[in-house]
Amino acid sequence: MAFSYVSGVLTADGVPLDRLAEAVGTPVYVYAASRLRANYQAYAQAFARDPVDVCFALKANSNQSIISLFARLGAGADVVSEGEMRRALAAGVPPQKVVFSGVGKTRDELAAALVAGIHQINVESLPELEALSAVAVELGRTAPVALRINPDVDAGTHGKIATGRKEDKFGIDLGHAVQAYAKACGLPGLAPKGYAVHIGSQLLNINPYDDAYGHLSDLVIATREAGLKVERLDLGGGLGVPYRGETAPDHDAYAAIVRKRLGNLGCRLTLEPGRSLVGDAGVLLARVIYVKEGLHRRFLIVDAAMNDLMRPTLYDAYHGIRPVFEAAADAPLAPMDVVGPICETGDTFARQRDLPPMAAGELVAFMTAGAYGAAMSSTYNSRPLVAEVLVDDGQWAVIRRRQTFEEMLALDVAPQWRHV
Ligand code: LLP
Repeated sequence: MAFSYVSGVLTADGVPLDRLAEAVGTPVYVYAASRLRANYQAYAQAFARDPVDVCFALKANSNQSIISLFARLGAGADVVSEGEMRRALAAGVPPQKVVFSGVGKTRDELAAALVAGIHQINVESLPELEALSAVAVELGRTAPVALRINPDVDAGTHGKIATGRKEDKFGIDLGHAVQAYAKACGLPGLAPKGYAVHIGSQLLNINPYDDAYGHLSDLVIATREAGLKVERLDLGGGLGVPYRGETAPDHDAYAAIVRKRLGNLGCRLTLEPGRSLVGDAGVLLARVIYVKEGLHRRFLIVDAAMNDLMRPTLYDAYHGIRPVFEAAADAPLAPMDVVGPICETGDTFARQRDLPPMAAGELVAFMTAGAYGAAMSSTYNSRPLVAEVLVDDGQWAVIRRRQTFEEMLALDVAPQWRHV
């Protein structure tokens, strides 16, 4: 267990979290390297005998130390903006292992990707195909392209993170995919390589992949029947993590679906996992500022807020909350609302959560916060970005400094008026 109690104190790979809080302050994200590695190995092992490349979806956690940890294990990167591409390259991911996804890449971003010479650009629409062709011709380069298709499969996840239904903004619908692929083959500057699909995030039930990859297989066959070459398939990300004791999807079962549906097509495969690589490897550590007895509720007011961890506010997401100092086995549990200091009611991490007695000054950990935590944080309410710490083999290191007030304020500039 990456996070467990040792002598009554919650630790990250054996490093006591209270010591980290003292050294770095709170709020702070803490990641356990052992867990990050184990999560990567779960994919590597399940797909050991398949032609599969694992490209870490940076959007889940784009800290460069995390990216380079995965890169050293052999991972590539799935990026969705020029910023993410720069992070991947700066962290040591070779361009030949970078895939660029996203529904709204600008011409500048497409040009940057071509100049960097990345592995593949996943194109999501006809206008994007045309833009990429024009940019590639202008630069005298050839763009390796995969067409993202929308298989119209419901991933059975939260509506805001389901991406493969026909009403979602992503991909080209199946019915028009061969036509679009043929068009791509005819456009100058493009080298169509295959197809991409991503049906959503936080899938605890992997059956929707069976449907989606079944459609993908039919599409490859239809495309080849039209006389076109398909060499690669990008299968997206999406494997979920247990936030409240659910059963995690089994990598071997997932690999079996991939093999059954796509194994005999002779394609090179890419996976784009994000959450399942980092989610359970991180916690957000916070300190209780006050315990407030409301008229009807007890509020635990902590120094982390929705700007640091948006998921509860945005998706009503559940994160386990554990006191850093282990409660006595017979401690009475009582319902509390765990909230941050931000001036809106949505700044609530948990409602009526049963927790042991807690006092001001105590430390709590929001569990399973390694994915879409720090990466989605902001400075709302002028709260500086929090620090991030990596724990590895009994040692710890700051991997993102806490933003200073000076840095935060310095982005605003006094107006220097100009005439149009
Ligand atoms: N590939 C593509 C094209 C994606 O859009 C995503 C996630 C991934 C891969 C990685 O998916 P994962 O393996 O992490 O499920 N902020 C939300 C999650 C948004 C996911 C967006 N796309 C959350 O906190 O739940």
